[in-house]
This record gives sequence, structure tokens and C-alpha cells, in this order.
Amino acid sequence: MSKKRIGILTSGGDCAGLNATLRAVVHRAVGTYGWEVVGIRKATQGLMCRPPQVATFDLSSTRNLLTAGGTILGTTNKGNPFAFPMPDGSLCDRSHEIIEGYHLLGLDALIGIGGDGSLAILRRLAQQGNLNLVAIPKTIDNDLGSTERSVGFDTAVNIATEALDRLHFTAASHSRVMILEVMGRDAGHIALSAGIAGGADIILIPEIPYTIDTLCEAIQKLGRNFATVIVAEAVCTETGEKVTCTNRLGQCRLGGIGEYLADCITERIGAETRVTVLGHVQRGGIPSPLDRIIATAFGVEAVDLIAAEKYDHMVSWQNREVVHVPIAEAIAEYRAVSPTDTLVKAARGMGICLGDRPVTEQLVVPQPAMVSV
Ligand code: F6P
Repeated sequence: MSKKRIGILTSGGDCAGLNATLRAVVHRAVGTYGWEVVGIRKATQGLMCRPPQVATFDLSSTRNLLTAGGTILGTTNKGNPFAFPMPDGSLCDRSHEIIEGYHLLGLDALIGIGGDGSLAILRRLAQQGNLNLVAIPKTIDNDLGSTERSVGFDTAVNIATEALDRLHFTAASHSRVMILEVMGRDAGHIALSAGIAGGADIILIPEIPYTIDTLCEAIQKLGRNFATVIVAEAVCTETGEKVTCTNRLGQCRLGGIGEYLADCITERIGAETRVTVLGHVQRGGIPSPLDRIIATAFGVEAVDLIAAEKYDHMVSWQNREVVHVPIAEAIAEYRAVSPTDTLVKAARGMGICLGDRPVTEQLVVPQPAMVSV
């Protein structure tokens, strides 16, 4: 097999496990195949620069990468190259500069580590510029199609679970309803998994509509004077409005549903409430063992795909196996939580309130007839 020179970049929001993925790619490419690995700085922006902004890697440079948080390559979740914001406020198509950057570097292939938005952009660039692209899924939101897991999700769930564990004690001490608002964009995967793992009394996700009445009844039915609630950031108000916060500069982001719920609960049943917004803590820090394992398996498989010249594919985790799927397929499907998801069933089975009235609760269970003896 001819010696290859491959590029690698991280794109979109960072998460734990990106450096572990880079480490695995370098080990497989340099260690097994004797190839060269070029790390591209700040996602596609490194390819727009002249000369392109890169770092080369050998095996010794991967020494501390397994546990390091963030991405040593840098990343960005802004600046779509097809409509790139220019200093004068205009938008400019700079895709040709990125494609040129790839060819200037003499790359044989590119590994793009990203979520749905980044992978859609990278694939469009690859199609337009004839780039040999292989993708690795990463996102704490775990909302990318065709893969059960993406790098970063497990660590985010661990952090949210630990937060719930901690809130549980202070909720009990002060007889309060503690609300934890977590990330996840439009999907409720983090809230659902962490809610089950952290024993939340109520889990609210964007995929399941709720009523304030149901929440308040669930709190009152607990038969104790405290409760823990986990809510995904994209959960709407009871009447379906998105909750966002806008800063003094007019920039608007998801956030505030925790405070909204707290006010509604206090108003309705007089419970004392407090809100914790976990924010970017979920993205930072040391990757969990599972994220390190997935990152490693994905990194190795991505390099093997290049060795097999199987481009335009994304590595994927399915039934505890690393497989690969067309990138087009992965980005076509937004993977929200299905109301029939096995974890939704598990949560309901544990009596956790999901904000709605599950069908089983509405059924009148027939009581066995009393038999006199
Ligand atoms: O997509 C990952 C994510 O962390 C979302 O869960 C969250 O809504 C968003 O990114 C936050 O983005 P930013 O880092 O731009 O604040």
C-alpha cells in the first residue's frame, strides 16, 4: 500500500474524547501503516489560512492525549464556509479556499470529527472538491443519525448524573425542588440518561410534551418534601414557546426553561425551588472510560477505512460494534429520543414522571374479585 498523508480536524462544539480520538488516529496511521498525520487547526478555518495552519504528529506527540479534555487542534461552531461572515458584515462563499488548502497540503484523505452540522458542511466540501472524506461522530447531544453513540455523550451524561447525585442531598436537607437544566440542543438524550442514572423524580425532554399540573401532582405524590427534576434545555413552555435568553448584545441562546419551571411549580404548589444550569461543564474535562473506548475504536476504524479507500463514510457504533455507514445517511436522520425508546420505558417503569400522563396510568386496572372462604 502506498504511503498516505492524511489530515484530521475537529469541527463544531468541543467535547470530551476528541484528543483520545486524535491519539487513536495517529497510532493507527503512523504506528500501523507508517503514514503521515497532519492536524488542521480550528476546523476548516485552518485550511482557509495561507499557509494552511497545521501541526504534524508522531507517536511521541500523542503521549498525554488520552485523558486531555477539549481539542488540541482547536475548533469552531461558527462560520459556515459556504456563507462565511466577513469583517464588513457580508457573507462570502469561501469553500474553494478550503478545498485548495486540502490540495496544497497534498492530503490523500481527511478525517473530520464532527456532529451533524459539521459533517454536512464537510461532506458538501468533499463532493465539491473531490476530497476523500471519512467522518467520526462526536456530540454530547448524541443526536447524529445511524450511530447509537457519539464521542462526548457518555462524559456529558456522567457529569449531569454527578450533578443530580449532589443536588439530591441538598434538596433533601432544605426540603426543596431542585431543577437541573442540561444541554442537548433539540434532543433529550442527556436528560433522559442522566435522569435515570441519577434517580431524578421528573425528567423533561423536548420530545415529550408535559403539563405543569402533571409535574406538580408528581411532586406531591412523592410523599416527601423534596424532589429532583432534570430538564433538557430545548424543552418549551407548557404552551409550546421556546425558552431562550438574550444578552445585552442581542445574542440569543437556548436557556431558561429551568427558571420557568421553578416559577410555575412555586406558584402552583408553593414548593421552594432552586435551579442549576450545568452549561459547558458537560463538555469539558477528562473523558469517561466509555468515551475513551469509543474514541479509540472509532479512530482505528476511520484509518482502516482510508486504508481500504472507502470514503464518504462515517464510523458508527451499533450493537456494541464499530461499523461504517454513508455520511449522507447519518446526516439525513436527526436522532431525537423516540417516545418508544427503551430508556423511556425504563423511566416510566421506575415511576419517573416524564411530564405527560402515560397511557398505562389512564387505564383502570381491574382488581381481582374478593373470594370469601
Ligand atoms: O451541540 C453541543 C452543544 O453543547 C449543545 O448541547 C448546546 O446547545 C450548544 O452546543 C452550546 O453551544 P455554544 O458552545 O456555542 O454555547
